Amino acid sequence: MEFYEVIKKRKSIRSYKPDPIPQEVLERILEAGRLAPSAKNIQPWKFIVIDDQEIKEKLVSACRNQKFIAEAPIIICVVALEKIAWGRMGGYWSSYPVDCAIAMEHIVLAATNEGLGTCWIGAYDEKEVKKILKCPEDVKIIALTPLGYPNEDPPTRSRKPLSEIVCYNQYQ
Ligand SMILES: Cc1cc2nc3c(=O)[nH]c(=O)nc-3n(C[C@H](O)[C@H](O)[C@H](O)COP(=O)(O)O)c2cc1C
Repeated sequence: MEFYEVIKKRKSIRSYKPDPIPQEVLERILEAGRLAPSAKNIQPWKFIVIDDQEIKEKLVSACRNQKFIAEAPIIICVVALEKIAWGRMGGYWSSYPVDCAIAMEHIVLAATNEGLGTCWIGAYDEKEVKKILKCPEDVKIIALTPLGYPNEDPPTRSRKPLSEIVCYNQYQ
């Protein structure tokens, strides 16, 4: 798909077909995440691929009961390795949320390119998710997404116009 087509085609999908995802398609999507840039190229992330139905169901309750996430054959969880990330971005903050958000978006856009649906899930109980996925104490959950063939074609959600969000040479 042409790049700007992918950008336009991506929408949050909240209904999925149970159809399985071919392994080579999944691998291309994960590879897109692997290639994401990160501060100092530290790559402070893990991508957990969840295809076990029981674990997916447990994640539903850890994600405010958003049942559609378990409809998809796969859920991907992006986890940040906070300890190894660059800690001085802008002189004061850690790069891990930015690094991992970029990796997540690479995954999301690659999935769109493969005709798959995703939905960035930020409404989760971190403690619960970590427990379910057996994550060590010192990592952070950045986001989850269901990954599967869409069972809906929702309308495109509007965005602010460029005139409202772009300024030149100084903040306005
Ligand atoms: C950080 C973040 C957290 C989000 N959390 C959720 C969520 O928990 N559940 C959900 O259904 N959508 C979630 N969304 C999806 C947004 O609601 C959605 O991207 C937005 O309404 C624009 O719609 P679109 O993705 O279809 O363009 C989240 C998106 C982002 C970027």
